[in-house]
Amino acid sequence: MIKSRHRKRQIRANGENGRYAHVTGWGVEVPERVLTNHDLEQMVDTSDEWIRERTGISERRIADDRDTAVTLGTRAARKALKHADILPDDLDLIIVATMSPVYLCPSTACLIQDQLGATRAGAFDLLAACSGFIYALSTAAGQIKSGMARTVLVIGTETLSRITDWSDRGTCILFADGAAAFVLQESDTPGGVREVVLHSDGSGGELLYVHSGARPTWNGAEAPASLINMNGRGVFRFAARVMSSATEEVVQQAGLTLNDIDVIVPHQANMRIIDAAMRSLKISSDRVVANIERYGNTSAASIPIAIVEAVENGQIKPNDRIVLVGFGGGLTWAAALLEWEVTPTPASYGRDVLREGLYILARVRSLINRMLRLLEALFFRAPSDRQPRQRAGTPAKPPQQDE
Ligand code: ACO
Repeated sequence: MIKSRHRKRQIRANGENGRYAHVTGWGVEVPERVLTNHDLEQMVDTSDEWIRERTGISERRIADDRDTAVTLGTRAARKALKHADILPDDLDLIIVATMSPVYLCPSTACLIQDQLGATRAGAFDLLAACSGFIYALSTAAGQIKSGMARTVLVIGTETLSRITDWSDRGTCILFADGAAAFVLQESDTPGGVREVVLHSDGSGGELLYVHSGARPTWNGAEAPASLINMNGRGVFRFAARVMSSATEEVVQQAGLTLNDIDVIVPHQANMRIIDAAMRSLKISSDRVVANIERYGNTSAASIPIAIVEAVENGQIKPNDRIVLVGFGGGLTWAAALLEWEVTPTPASYGRDVLREGLYILARVRSLINRMLRLLEALFFRAPSDRQPRQRAGTPAKPPQQDE
């Protein structure tokens, strides 16, 4: 029985006003560089055997120096737009889930918007750690079902390697980099994102945290650098509990039972957490998507990367009912029920060429806008600008075009 306090926050996702939010395009971008457990043996006091037994991870992808959450997210987004066969200008909204942005401001979403040339789109970042993708999916579906948006791009993108303490064997074996993007579009065909449950418990915030530049200190302790701090055992206990309860809750909210679900896509954090949750739900491993062995924990990107792989290898098929379930820092946890009713979009060479041309145009437009702002600053100074100002601090490097 779902408690009434949960009922209030339920997101009715079954198209009460005839609008449904379907996933119509997707794309994944993972860095080429592979970091194996054997590589980690050379860096910290650990072993391939320990990591595989305790986490299920064998290797993970690490971004090279040129890549950021923006560049990985942009490449994933372009693949998703191509798959959905839409143009950047078709986008009403871009939502990026990330806990490893290049800047707190501007948002990763705005920088990706600029790279895509999505001139009509609103753009913002959302931070719910590893539950971020489900939170973003839920926000996108809500916008579409309410009629406020027709086409939304949702991206989970992370370069966790940049905020990982590579001398801490308790965390550096887990985290990795990657990105995935989904296009969600309005449709009058029933299906798509049906139900979502979102939860949080800030009292567990100290179990997994990263200090911002504003550096609040937890319990008065001096803040270390902005790296992931984690109490692994605490997170493990919390995760094992909420993964199964959130799955049951979202299924129950849809008026279904676990037998009606074809595939479960859990957040890829630790194979032991996934196994424990699925055991308690009595779900056999053939109904569970797991790729943690090859990618490690990519936080907000983990669930969409796993979905896309499962779609491509046939584990998720058209008309399947799938449950996504995740947990993360915050603490946050969430689950979503999707009906995967994707109509394949016929490939169109002409639109491919047009999209590529528009991406080039987006770069040119961005450059021209920057130059115009420079000229504006030079020739149209406000009177107060002519007075020398006292500087309040060291100016930060402004966002670069490739970030
Ligand atoms: N190699 C070898 N030994 C290690 C390593 C390592 N990499 N890491 C820890 N150990 C040691 C510990 O020091 C400890 O030794 P001790 O008994 O002498 O003190 C022993 O192994 C056991 O340590 P535990 O922390 O109890 O190990 P556990 O089985 O809990 O595994 C792990 C640790 C893998 C971190 C696990 O707790 C875990 O996965 N927790 C969940 C973390 C998670 O999912 N985080 C992501 C959340 S999502 C997000 O928001 C980003």
